[in-house]
This record gives sequence, structure tokens and C-alpha cells, in this order.
Amino acid sequence: MSKYEDKIKKLLAKMTVEEKVGQLQQCGPSLVGAFEVSFEELLDMMFDGRISKEEFDRLMGTAKQDFHEDDLRAGRVGSYNGIGSAAQVNKLQKIAVEETRLGIPLIFGYDVIHGFKTITPIPLAESCAWEPSLWERTGRIAAKEASAAGIHMTFAPMVDVSKDARWGRVSEGAGEDVLLNGLYGAAKVRGFQGDNLSKEDSIVACIKHFAAYGAVEAGRDYNCVDMSMQRLYEEYLPSYKMCIDAGARAVMPAFNDINGIPCSVNKWLLMDLLRKQWGFNGMTVSDANAIAECVNHGIALDGREAAKKALEAGLDIDMTSNTYIKYVEELVKNEEIDEEILDRAVADVLRIKFELGLFDNPYQTNEAHESTAMLKPEYRALAREAAVKSMVLLKNEKDSNGKKILPLEKGVNLGIFGEVAGNGDEMTGAWAIGADSGSCVSILDACKERDIFYQTGTKDNVDEIVKSSDVLLAVIGEKKDESGEASSRAKITISHEQISLLKKLLKTGKPVVAILFNGRPLAIPFVAENVPAILEAWHLGVEAGNAILDILFGDEIPTGKLTMTFPNATGQCPMYYAHINTGRPGGKSKFTSKYIDAPVEPLYPFGYGLSYTEYEYSDIAVKKNGDLYEASINVKNIGERDGEEIVQCYVRNMAAGRVRPVKELKAFEKVALQAGEKKEVTFNIKAEDLGYYNWNMEYVKEAKEYVFYIGGNSKDCLEVSIKD
Ligand code: NOJ
Repeated sequence: MSKYEDKIKKLLAKMTVEEKVGQLQQCGPSLVGAFEVSFEELLDMMFDGRISKEEFDRLMGTAKQDFHEDDLRAGRVGSYNGIGSAAQVNKLQKIAVEETRLGIPLIFGYDVIHGFKTITPIPLAESCAWEPSLWERTGRIAAKEASAAGIHMTFAPMVDVSKDARWGRVSEGAGEDVLLNGLYGAAKVRGFQGDNLSKEDSIVACIKHFAAYGAVEAGRDYNCVDMSMQRLYEEYLPSYKMCIDAGARAVMPAFNDINGIPCSVNKWLLMDLLRKQWGFNGMTVSDANAIAECVNHGIALDGREAAKKALEAGLDIDMTSNTYIKYVEELVKNEEIDEEILDRAVADVLRIKFELGLFDNPYQTNEAHESTAMLKPEYRALAREAAVKSMVLLKNEKDSNGKKILPLEKGVNLGIFGEVAGNGDEMTGAWAIGADSGSCVSILDACKERDIFYQTGTKDNVDEIVKSSDVLLAVIGEKKDESGEASSRAKITISHEQISLLKKLLKTGKPVVAILFNGRPLAIPFVAENVPAILEAWHLGVEAGNAILDILFGDEIPTGKLTMTFPNATGQCPMYYAHINTGRPGGKSKFTSKYIDAPVEPLYPFGYGLSYTEYEYSDIAVKKNGDLYEASINVKNIGERDGEEIVQCYVRNMAAGRVRPVKELKAFEKVALQAGEKKEVTFNIKAEDLGYYNWNMEYVKEAKEYVFYIGGNSKDCLEVSIKD
């Protein structure tokens, strides 16, 4: 199994049942003292307006943190989450190593989702770069910073395929396609874990949320998931599997149930599939409080039963629900749980502690190292590169002089609208809990830095600002807390105020550029129709402002392509490119699959993105060579600027034993092309990768005819078919 098995066995033999359960207990610092009500109630009070955000922040600032040191001394804590400071980590580690009976070191976990201090673009944005090596490099610097702050494990990457833009957590993953999620996740695993977990700058990747959390019904967070096993195997599971194959050492079961069994107590998922079929021997870590929540799901009568079911299902670590620490010792002593089951879970945790090198080297950092490890210039440079590559140019019309609006001429005067433009903290997006306030370059900061003349305006002083502005920038979309966990939306539009601002700006006759800040696709037909230039900037991190100006002024060329479909209307959700055709695909006739009050087409398709140059595709061909399909195409840069085009290859099985999606992404390549240059791009696709699960859940490769589609987005492709 691993070279540590003997050591694990010997250690287990010395442990009491209580100490064993302690290894499975993960807690975070609890807030104590400053207020009379619970933290949850305080949050509710802020959300329903009983106290202001300022009052909430003030109270939090005065709260003390309880690190459960007495429990730790008693061997009743095995890991912590949410602590990101070398001093605090080492203080607690010292207690674990020097003051507990067996001296077993602790693991510290943290949500390092898109950077620790050097915040890089949100995952949905970064996925638009379609560049695994970039994803790995940003993962590596996140691990370097996080490990310097004492962190040993990140609760990332999230590789939940997300087809429903209402779900707030689409911001945390690589979008709607399973292959992209898998490649993104595997690259992050390599970046976080490095080449050897025992190195001080490597951290464990805890992939999440296993499984299919992205398919929550109606896009509502924490909701249920019900789907055929075929879809689960084809469209959701492969992204997690690719991360396991890349060596991910931890897995977080999802909050949701799958077909009626919550993932936290789903033995089929955690034992049969993950461990037996996929050969995973790392550790599983519950989501926060998820074991106790199995009572709410209605699958356990109380916390005691939930603990028993979760442990028996293969869930090793209890994150903050305290059900293991309360009940498992008694359950084992009463012989209601076999001690071997407990031992198996504890062995998983000890194995990771050995792999991390914590027994030999429990203090992997110190304050001096921490203080010099963050936000290094080369990290910022990488954050800027990632931000540039994450942006997607959605529209770029010509102005009244017949010149494309973007890039802007150097020296133009800008009128900048939208409160987010000058708010550094808004650049980070969801889940940037390690970020230092003030570390982000906003759009206004970047303008100041470059001595660009700009004025900021609101919808009430448009006429005045316009007088001395050549171009109007409208920074619109969502604030950072409108996406992420617990931020599902039933209307994924922009506000009325933003629309009325745009109307005023458009009326002035000056060129208007919309810069979108958002953590999900937005249904914005008004913007798409009326605003002549639109740049999707997502939430780009510490270098957002610099990167946005790099693109606006043409120092860099846009290359990003969407990894989630933009719908025209929220009611089209879930909307995704790899859909089934139906017997009556949406068309002109009334009795076809469509809406009477919204188009059947997306606003912007998956894979879409413009640039400052254009590409021409020709000569698509496909041939079979043994077990490989070789699909090729010529791509020519027909514009005046050098660029990089993300060439995408999709396949459809035209008549199978089970209906197949109209297109499935099977390969892609980012191709550098100088102005005027033409290249042949060839994709070698294994026949094995074109299979599907039949009615009986057997993986089969039957096909009569495949159509290969190659192009610059999922809609505009050349196609060629091949009989099988
Ligand atoms: C809940 C979230 O679902 C999960 O993604 C996160 O890692 C944990 N909380 C810990 O913060």
C-alpha cells in the first residue's frame, strides 16, 4: 500500500480508542466572548438588516478565538482548519508534539482556492485560459505561500462540473465541461502537491465536492442531486478521477445526496468507487458540519446514527460537526462499530501525516519565512499573466470612424463608471479568505500608476463627465459576494440601475466599453445587443487593474474563451453546449423544443471569445489510424496582430445505443500564430475516449458514424464525418 504501513500499524497499536477518534476530529477556531448570540445568528442578523455590515465587522474584530487547546492536549484533535499563520500553527503543533501522550503532529487545512495572498483569477476565469501549465504554475505559488503560513492542505481544487449558472459556486471550478474540469483539477493537484509531498512547500490537494455537487437541482446551493448513473459516469465522475490519477491525496465528499444517499454517508461512493475501483488510499474529509446535517437530510435520526453511517461509509475526518468525537468512542466500545473500521480511517489520516513528513519535521515554517514568502514580484507577474489570459472579449464593434473600439488609443481620456472600478477588495472574487486588504490593484489604481487621464462618474453626472472623456468604461456585473458558496441566484441578470446607467452612457454617442465583473455567466441580452464593446473580466485577483488595462490598451491581446455558456435568459438554465438533441430540436416550427418567450440559442456559446486578430479555419479532415482518430484542420491568422487561438475539437456519435450529446469536447490546443501565419493542427483522439455507458452500465464504443467538429468555439466549427 505505502512504505508507511508498518509504522502506521505500530502507532495504531499504541493508541486508545479515544486517541484514534481524536485523529478524526477537525476543528476550526471558535469565536467566543464578544457577543451574546451564536455566530450563525449574528450572520443572519446582518443579512436581514438587524445590524449593519460595519457593526458585524466591529463585533468580529473584538471576538476572541478559542483554539480548543485542552482538547488538543487530551489527544482529541487531529487537524484544524481556517488557521493561516505560522505563529499560531506552530504554537498548536508544539502542543500536539510535546504535550500529547503520543506526540502525533497536526494537519492544518485551509481554503486556498485561487491563491493565498497572491490572489489569482477565480477558477472559472482561469479556466478560460485553457492552459494546464498556467493552472499548475498558479497552483504552485499558492502552495508556496500557504505552506509558508503553516498550511498543509488546501480544500481545492473544486472539479464539480457546473452546467447551471444560477449556482453561485460555478465561480470555484472550471465550468461546464468534464474534460476541462479534469485537466484543470489535475494541473492544480500537481501544482499544490509538487513532486514530493514531504517538501515543505508542498500541500495536500483535497479535491471536492465528491460527487456531482455542481448538479444541485435548480442551481440552489446545498440542494439534492438526482441523475442517471450513465450521466454521472460520463459527465461528472471523470473530473474527480483525473485528479485521483494525478495523485490527489484527499477527497471531500459533497454536501448533496446522489439519488437519495448523501455523499457523506454514501458507502458506494466512498468505498466501492473511490477506494476499490479507483484505488485511492488517501484520506476523506467531510464538508463543514456535513455529518451532523445527515439528520436534516433525513437519513439518520440523530448525530450518533449519522456518525456511525459516515464512518462506516468511509468518511475519515469529521470537519467541525463534532459527531465523531461525541459518539464514536462509545459506538466502538458498545461494539456497534467494528474497531477495524475506525482503524482504517485513522490509518488514512496517519498515512497523510507521514507523507507530509510531519513526524520528522512538524514545524515546516516559521514567522521569518512567512514574512518574506508572500506577494513576491514574480508571483504578482504570474497573477497578471493569468489575469490577462482569463479575460474573454465578447464583443468589439467598429466606432463611427470605422475603427474597432478596442484596443483603445494610448492617450485617450476615460470616463469610468461603476463603484467596483476603484474597489481593490472587489477584484478578488469569492473565496479569497487569505487576501490582505489593500493588496489588489483596482482599475483606478492602475490608471493612476500609468498617468492615464480619467474621471469617475455615476449615472447622475454622465453629461458632465462625458464632456472631457473620449471613451466611457462601464464596470458592471456582480459584486464578489454575489457568487460563491450560498450565493445562488434566481435571476442572473444585472441590476436596473446598471441598465439605466448604460442607457445614459449609450445616449451620449461616445464609445462605451462594458467591463464585466462577475463570478458566473450572466443573462445580459441588453448589454450584448447595445453596448459596442464588452470585455469579460470576471474577478481577476491582485493584478486585476493592471491586466485589464493591458488588454484595453492593446499591450496584450485577448485569448480567453468561455468555459460556460452564457444564456439569454435565466429561464434557459441549465444551459450547456453538450446537450441531448431531442426528437424535436428547437427550430422554426412551433412544436419543437424551445421557449415561446426566449430564444433557444445561448447569448454566447461555450468556447467563444474574440481577439484583436481573426482566424480562418479550412481543410478539416479525419482518418482512422489503428485505435486513433486523427483529426486535422488548417488555422490561419488573417489579422494584423500576432496571437494565440484556442482550437477546439468536438465529436458526436450520430447513432448510438443510447442518445449522445450533440457535441463533446475531446481535445483542444492553444496555437500561437503570427499575423498571416497558417498552421495545421492535428488532434489524436483515442477510440477508447469516444465510448459511453449503455443502458446496462457497460462502457461501449459502438458507433456507426462520428462527426468531428473543429473550430474556435462550440458553435462555429467546420465538420467532417467518418463511418466506423
Ligand atoms: C464549506 C464548503 O462547501 C467547502 O468547499 C469548504 O472547503 C469548507 N466549507 C471549509 O471552509
